[in-house]
Amino acid sequence: MGLFTLPTVALFILLTLSLAFVHEGIPTTLDGPFKPVTVPLDKSFRGNAVDLPETDPRVKRIVKGFKPEQISVSLSGTHDSVWISWITGEFQIGDNIEPLDPKTVSGVVVYGRYGFPMTNRSTGNNSLVYNQLYQFEGLKNYTSGIIHHVRLAGLIPNTLYQYQCGDPSIPAMSRVSYFKTMPVSGPKSYPSRVAVVGDLGLTYNTTSTVDHLLANRPDLLLLVGDVSYADLYLTNGTGSDCYSCSFPHTPIQETYQPRWDYWGR
Ligand SMILES: [Fe+2]
Repeated sequence: MGLFTLPTVALFILLTLSLAFVHEGIPTTLDGPFKPVTVPLDKSFRGNAVDLPETDPRVKRIVKGFKPEQISVSLSGTHDSVWISWITGEFQIGDNIEPLDPKTVSGVVVYGRYGFPMTNRSTGNNSLVYNQLYQFEGLKNYTSGIIHHVRLAGLIPNTLYQYQCGDPSIPAMSRVSYFKTMPVSGPKSYPSRVAVVGDLGLTYNTTSTVDHLLANRPDLLLLVGDVSYADLYLTNGTGSDCYSCSFPHTPIQETYQPRWDYWGR
């Protein structure tokens, strides 16, 4: 990718690192206005969308213990703040699951401007665990890893930052990642390259979509929804393109919640 390595999940984001991408000659909104351009779908490439299996390296858990994973950066309310989110610990799915205690792992982000020491520190106290419990015999229950959200504030607009997240007392910190803050909002000051995407799924085509997004160097990505399609699965992990066709007699619409964890990787 160039200068830096970003976690795949950084796609949520403030897509960063405009310096690291090659300019491909696509004009920005500042050069406009233009008539909208529609690019035809490459039908030779897109067939039936097939979900990545849990064995695919793109969705496998690669961290150990309580090291952070599924790290993402999201836009906050103002140009001088962002949210850093991540998961620690493993999900469980089965008949006898024991939710993790969110208080056992703290949420800390250390950060600083790119090229300077990471002397800033923010902490979160709103960690939580998500549970999906079914009231029907035979259906498997799910409990997530610990979900952390930490808000950074007082950031300089339009500036590249580096950060690490995790719990330094374990120690279990992430590698160094990067984000660029938004410009100050104004009539002539706004992110000039905004990508909008929805229904991403977790298929082989998703990788192609994400590659295209990155190649177009967006400053900001707006993800409008539908990301994991966990509702096309039974709780035992059996999936189908058409839930109602394949599983007409389930007592309730089942889901396979680990698909959410796969997506964040
Ligand atoms: Fe959808």
